Amino acid sequence: MSGDVRRLADWDAERLRALADEYGTPTYVLDLDRITENCATLRSAFPEAHVAFAVKANTTRAALETVLEAGLDAECAAAGEVHRALEAGFPPERIRYTAVLPPEADLDFVTQHDITITVGALDTLDSLERRGFDGRLAVRVNPGIGAGHHAKVTTGTEPKFGIPYERAVEACERAREVGELVGIHAHAGSGISGEDLSAHRALVERMGDLARDVGDLEFVDVGGGFGVPYREDEPPLDLDAVAAATREALGETDAQLAVEPGRYVTADAGVLLTRVNTVKETPETPVVGVDAGMTTLVRPAMYGAYHAIRTLAADADARTVREVEMAGPVCETSDVLARERSLPDPIRGDVLAIGNAGAYGYEMSSQYNSRPRPAVVALTGDDDRLAVRRETLADLTALEQW
Ligand code: LLP
Repeated sequence: MSGDVRRLADWDAERLRALADEYGTPTYVLDLDRITENCATLRSAFPEAHVAFAVKANTTRAALETVLEAGLDAECAAAGEVHRALEAGFPPERIRYTAVLPPEADLDFVTQHDITITVGALDTLDSLERRGFDGRLAVRVNPGIGAGHHAKVTTGTEPKFGIPYERAVEACERAREVGELVGIHAHAGSGISGEDLSAHRALVERMGDLARDVGDLEFVDVGGGFGVPYREDEPPLDLDAVAAATREALGETDAQLAVEPGRYVTADAGVLLTRVNTVKETPETPVVGVDAGMTTLVRPAMYGAYHAIRTLAADADARTVREVEMAGPVCETSDVLARERSLPDPIRGDVLAIGNAGAYGYEMSSQYNSRPRPAVVALTGDDDRLAVRRETLADLTALEQW
């Protein structure tokens, strides 16, 4: 079975502690070798498919260059992501832009480059035609089938995304009037679990049918969404089983299968290092204050997401375990990274590591409460290098014109 995972326990505590001392906290650590391994795992599970990285999971230059080197293409959701992919060295023919209700400025930018544009509305085809665009097009279909780890990341049933399945053939005909129709696309949502592949199977079947109806296509993209185990006891996704189910559900077609995972590529390649600054006893629960919060990693606040947490203190094994709440410094009730979490008794100054932080971690960070964004450190072999510098207080006002 392919699909091994790197758990938080597999990271070298001493090395992470040294990185926290050298670069400060909060800091994201991104292991580029692990990204390379994940790309290889995907390519061997889907040897016949076209695999693109959904760059929204992690757009740091270090990650993008690694993915490019590993042979994946780039799937971009915004002009900014296309800009970053081009800067990282992706040739235009390896970039796809998936237009979600695209702002005019996005279309102005992406039509200047020779990339494939995936449209999710007939209206977008009109906008492209008005610009004189006659390049490579794909049609995004709303498959009417959703999946995901949380309602907030289930896209397949949201009217916002894609053209209704019933109107897909008509949309493909219209696309052929505007440019060169090369593919069809659908994405059910984020966090496909191995236990229940039925939604994924149903989506792929629908896309196989549509590919046969439309005919003469280069690719059928069935999206990303391959889940990773965030909980320590969660089994890894059996990617070979997903690939086999995908192949079977797609059926006979001349079009090449395409997938576009984000999370799977970078999630377990990253940890977030944070330091305990406050330990507060309360009648309800001990509260452990750390220097990372919802501005550093928003997933717990936004989706109630679970992330493994590990103390890196050298004497951790000798400490009694306590159930605590771990919270950030932001003045918001939702700024809690973990509740009812058992940890070796935290002490001020301890460095903690938060697992599976390589996808949608740094990427979704913000400056709310005027908290500068953290640093990102990239690892290759035994080397470490600053990939993104920590923001300073001066950075917070750098754009002010008043
Ligand atoms: N393709 C499309 C069209 C997408 O919208 C997405 C994710 C992907 C591919 C990649 O999905 P992945 O393989 O990474 O699951 N911020 C949320 C996830 C939002 C995903 C949005 N679209 C989170 O932190 O869980």
